[in-house]
Amino acid sequence: MNSSEQIITGRTESTLYKAWLQYSEPDSSELRNLYKGMLERVVVEGGVSRIPPAAVRELSAGADTMLGVTPEFMDQIPTNGEGPYLWICLHSEENGYGADRRKWETRRDAYSLKYVLSAKEERLELIAASKAGVIYGIFHLLRGISLGFKPAQWAIEEHPVNQLRMINQWDNADGTIERGYSGRSIFYKDGEISKDLDRVRDYARLLASVGINAISINNVNVHEVETGFITEEGLPEVTRVAEVFRDYGIALFLSINFAAPIAVGGLDTADPLDAGVREWWKETSERIYRHIPDFGGFVVKADSEHRPGPFAYGRDHADGANMLADSLEPYGGLVVWRCFVYNCMQDWRDRSTDRARAAYDHFKPLDGKFKDNVLLQIKNGPMDFQVREPVSPLFGAMRATNQVIEFQIAQEYTGQQRHLCYLVPQWKQVLDFDTHAAEEGKGQVNRIVSGSLFGMKYSGAAAVSNIGEDECWTGHPLAQANLYGYGRLIWNPGLSAEGIAQEWAKLTFGSDREVIDKVTDMLMASWPIYESYTAPLGVGWMVVPHYHYGPDVDGYEYSRWGTYHFADREGIGVDRTMATGTGYAGQYFSPNREMYESLEDCPDELLLFFHHVPYGHVLHSGKTVIQHIYDTHFSGAESADGLRESWASLQGRVDAVRHKAAADRFAEQAEHAKHWRDVINTYFYRKSGVPDEHGRTIYF
Ligand code: GCU
Repeated sequence: MNSSEQIITGRTESTLYKAWLQYSEPDSSELRNLYKGMLERVVVEGGVSRIPPAAVRELSAGADTMLGVTPEFMDQIPTNGEGPYLWICLHSEENGYGADRRKWETRRDAYSLKYVLSAKEERLELIAASKAGVIYGIFHLLRGISLGFKPAQWAIEEHPVNQLRMINQWDNADGTIERGYSGRSIFYKDGEISKDLDRVRDYARLLASVGINAISINNVNVHEVETGFITEEGLPEVTRVAEVFRDYGIALFLSINFAAPIAVGGLDTADPLDAGVREWWKETSERIYRHIPDFGGFVVKADSEHRPGPFAYGRDHADGANMLADSLEPYGGLVVWRCFVYNCMQDWRDRSTDRARAAYDHFKPLDGKFKDNVLLQIKNGPMDFQVREPVSPLFGAMRATNQVIEFQIAQEYTGQQRHLCYLVPQWKQVLDFDTHAAEEGKGQVNRIVSGSLFGMKYSGAAAVSNIGEDECWTGHPLAQANLYGYGRLIWNPGLSAEGIAQEWAKLTFGSDREVIDKVTDMLMASWPIYESYTAPLGVGWMVVPHYHYGPDVDGYEYSRWGTYHFADREGIGVDRTMATGTGYAGQYFSPNREMYESLEDCPDELLLFFHHVPYGHVLHSGKTVIQHIYDTHFSGAESADGLRESWASLQGRVDAVRHKAAADRFAEQAEHAKHWRDVINTYFYRKSGVPDEHGRTIYF
């Protein structure tokens, strides 16, 4: 068994499974030789036991697979003079993961990689601020070797922009995954935590390689078995999972049931102001930290989609979150409280209620009322991870509250990992959006969620995972790019979506230029393509209710979910203006508010999110809304077929297993895009009676 096999514990062979950690040989033999020499000897200041075993294993595996060398670890600089070496130094003394209150500082994860050449010696230096920093540094070094960095190019200092870089699993104890599109859960089997956690270990490794440092391991909708995870009976099992993640510097969180005091505590209330309830949570947190000293904290979905919460007791969300925060505070734990709170029992006849307004209306008045260790987790848009939404107006609206942005890597509404939809450009657009919550050029979402704009104590990002038991982890092999890209982007929001795509393509498929370029182009084109053949101009939804896959234009139109498009024979769209609509546009700062309010200034891609317009309304593009719908749906379906063809052209250049796995998905996408095209075009032709200018086939 070679050392890479020791690391990849779940399965050893497949390129699908190895994802972006293929560690293929660098193509230049010169580079290979240079690094070979350098990684043969690794000096660890203070001895190898000072750095995490995961880092030692990873370095050994990478050196072995890429270069065919087995590093010799030593604690002294070699005295036999010449010859390069790698030198690893852990900067701080206090660097365990323990119950360290500083564990969320971004600088704690810092490291530098520098090439040093003097008359006496040649070495590559990895200096890290913590054990986690060593792990990140090693992954960075190995990535750099795969990407063809020359030793002399190393002169970097790195630390993440965001403190909390979190993944949310929506996995259930019965082995299903809410909105999971990659097979069953790797965490649970038959109502309990899996006995064999090898695959979880491999997952921890993938996550650490892109800088993830926190994970919640159960669905935000906490069912019966998972409610018991925080009990004396449940915790030993959860501890096993925490140990796996701890090795990779990843803190474990649990989603909790707000009504747990009733469900498992034997109390008759979960009122956050009740002394008995407060005491119960204190005892619970004490118990958790006895088992898991570096436990991250709680993720909470309360008063949302029928989950219990403080509203039942006439309390607000600050009361609820602060009670939990009190219990976690002595241990440095965090409460990640979700803002996905809205009326899911709406009457479609009621035009005054607007789901888009809900998060802001609920949470903005509570600004400043949350304890220091509460972070509000806000979905990137005001609705629910649609292919196109405006940025949530809650970002920037709260100046005295820690805020975390929530993305969905799982492609619930964006093709369910059957269609290619690289989401990093969307996330990047959100992070770059200027909220105007501060003077010109300083109010970007990314400055708010990183905590820098308002000097917040805690900050970061969370995202719903897209992985499962599938051989390739993510259903569609190319959907791995979204998991990779999420980690890379939130570590450094300054990276470009295209740069990340290229990096991923090279690490995943090797150095064939044609493959890298084509895969990068396909990824970059994929979000606009998906948008073009689905719901038009920001209106969203139009999907099959509940499953959210495939077109059903009126599927949600007369339902209770608050997700309407209001299409009639004259026009379509939701009037969210202050003048005549729901007033949602007024939740933004000026000048965004005026931009969205104005029919003239509203960007085309969000027109139907903010305005109800006639089909003949002329867009900035010069086309009418109806012609835009026809054109984008014809061209979108063609482009989806183009993706299939591009991938087909890589046959023989990508190994057969991965090629076939993705080819099947592209074939499905191409067919399904035609179905979308025809359903949407026919629907609007029937509604409007306006023919296509170009006379293409629209079924009637
Ligand atoms: C979406 C999704 C649900 C999920 C919810 C949430 O509505 O469809 O399955 O529970 O988001 O974010 O809580």
